[in-house]
Amino acid sequence: CGIVGYIGDGQAVPIILESLKMLEYRGYDSAGVTIFNGSLETYKIAGRIKNLEDIIPENVNGSTGIGHTRWATHGKPETRNAHPHISSNVSVVHNGIIENYMQLKERLTGLGYEFKSDTDTEVIAHLLHFNMNCNGKKYLLDGLTETIKELEGSYAIAALCAEEPGILAFARKDSPLVIGIGNGSNYAASDVTAFLKHTKEVIYINDNEIGLLKPDSIDIFDLDGNSISRDTETIEWTLEAAEKAGYEHFMLKEIHEQPTSIQNTFAGKLSELEGTVTLDELYLERDEIKRLKRVTIIACGTSWNAGILGKYLFEKLAGLHTDVETASEFRYSNPVLCGEELTIAITQSGETADTLAAVRSSSSYGCRSIAITNVVGSTITRESDSVLYTRSGPEIGVAATKTFTAQLVALYMLAIHLGRIRGVVSANEAKDLIVGMKRLPGQIQKILNKKEMIKECAAQFADKRDCFFIGRYLNYPVALEGALKLKEISYIHAEGYAAGELKHGPLALITDETPVVAIATRGHTYEKILSNIKEVKARNATVIAVADDDDTEIDKYVDIVLRVPSSHELLAPVLSSVVLQLLSYYTALAKDCSIDKPRNLAKSVTVE
Ligand code: G6P
Repeated sequence: CGIVGYIGDGQAVPIILESLKMLEYRGYDSAGVTIFNGSLETYKIAGRIKNLEDIIPENVNGSTGIGHTRWATHGKPETRNAHPHISSNVSVVHNGIIENYMQLKERLTGLGYEFKSDTDTEVIAHLLHFNMNCNGKKYLLDGLTETIKELEGSYAIAALCAEEPGILAFARKDSPLVIGIGNGSNYAASDVTAFLKHTKEVIYINDNEIGLLKPDSIDIFDLDGNSISRDTETIEWTLEAAEKAGYEHFMLKEIHEQPTSIQNTFAGKLSELEGTVTLDELYLERDEIKRLKRVTIIACGTSWNAGILGKYLFEKLAGLHTDVETASEFRYSNPVLCGEELTIAITQSGETADTLAAVRSSSSYGCRSIAITNVVGSTITRESDSVLYTRSGPEIGVAATKTFTAQLVALYMLAIHLGRIRGVVSANEAKDLIVGMKRLPGQIQKILNKKEMIKECAAQFADKRDCFFIGRYLNYPVALEGALKLKEISYIHAEGYAAGELKHGPLALITDETPVVAIATRGHTYEKILSNIKEVKARNATVIAVADDDDTEIDKYVDIVLRVPSSHELLAPVLSSVVLQLLSYYTALAKDCSIDKPRNLAKSVTVE
């Protein structure tokens, strides 16, 4: 979900609608606004922001308002469940999950409050109203402070009260919230994209903070009412960077941004001469690095796929045993950790609830944590001991592309850095890798220049129901990510498999109707994947191989070859991933799917 708030000297309706559109990637099954127009007027509806735009009358004037775009967690995506939720004279928008909402709902129902929705958020509205009116009349700030003390779970909240025009209250715990500082206007939102057009000066709100926005002031308090002062930060992203720049979809634009995103991620950190990677931002002492026993990578979705590649890299280059954990499983398991492990959380958004909880769990064992994330100031950056940023700029398409390849680059850098200090990877080997990394942006550009061929190949998939992606060693996570991309945006059932595992089950599914994509770039498992290709060819599958541009051998065994420039074996996954992103993109395009906003998915999953 995404929340926005505006207070200032402009017209709130167009500003809030525009902000909501910028946040639509966070969820888009229903939307709503409350505008202070003499009294509080609320409009909400199921569906996209466009639907909301259509139902707001033209004569709604007002320069204070809150808005919400929803991704259902409690209650179906219906109009009555859309935010804002109202209790008499107060209106509330919320992102997160209130875990004790059932108890609160029972109590409030007993007090005579009537619930109109199935959402957890509605309890906040009624509780706020109750707290403002019991034991004498209270102001919005005091009411909200009392209210959040009773909430368990996660929230970013913006609230208005009809009796307090010119004031917008906010609060945060475990859900992102950032304030934009304008000239005579202030903004609140789940992320900066919402108001980037108006201001680049921001304040990040921390957990358990509450505050008030007025047109020309921002006040932040802790739960005891103490005032908090916070420096402002300047966002470097331009609005143009967050718009489509002429591409048909954000996803295609973001695929094309990969040369820059990768370049920015390693800029200033690689020394070709010395064979070293400088990562001062980790604040890891050499002794600490030498003493490390194990690495635990924690992530979800695409970031988890990057983690599998990380495992192979840390083991090969740094001699570190590495486990890759699915965050949602890790947080409820019984990890055996002794505190000498390094935890690496990979999350492009920095806000994935499961990943945050899993990192907290590993920190409780005394493990040191590093976050790899794309969002400066995101929650993970405050939950981890240090941060290695991918520098991809905003990624709007729900399906991760440029953040994935930047994560791979971050993992190469980290593995080389640790491996050099631990004396596992030699200076010469590191130099080769560094030279190879510097060539990646140009090599990706070559793939992008020949994308028409991949577009033609996508025709193989558009009418298929199932498909397999296979790879071995470092190409295994590439297969996993290739399959995830295809299912996310084209709705074709796709499975990524370690090619050697095919014969233990999935081979039974291979027919002439199940295309197989084999990632077969050169390396020490090349001969092995050729055997696996022969196995599926013998079952009449159409085989599409991703292979080196000078590999003519492969042509004998497969139906279509998609070429990548030859590179260091360890680095080829970056190039193959770009090919597979384009393959998914063009397949989804041929099927006329909603590419940037696939059904049922959200970019940033800030709920469990
Ligand atoms: C959502 C997104 C995926 C992403 C996953 C993890 O499911 O749709 O694209 O891989 O969350 O997100 P994170 O921000 O933690 O990398």
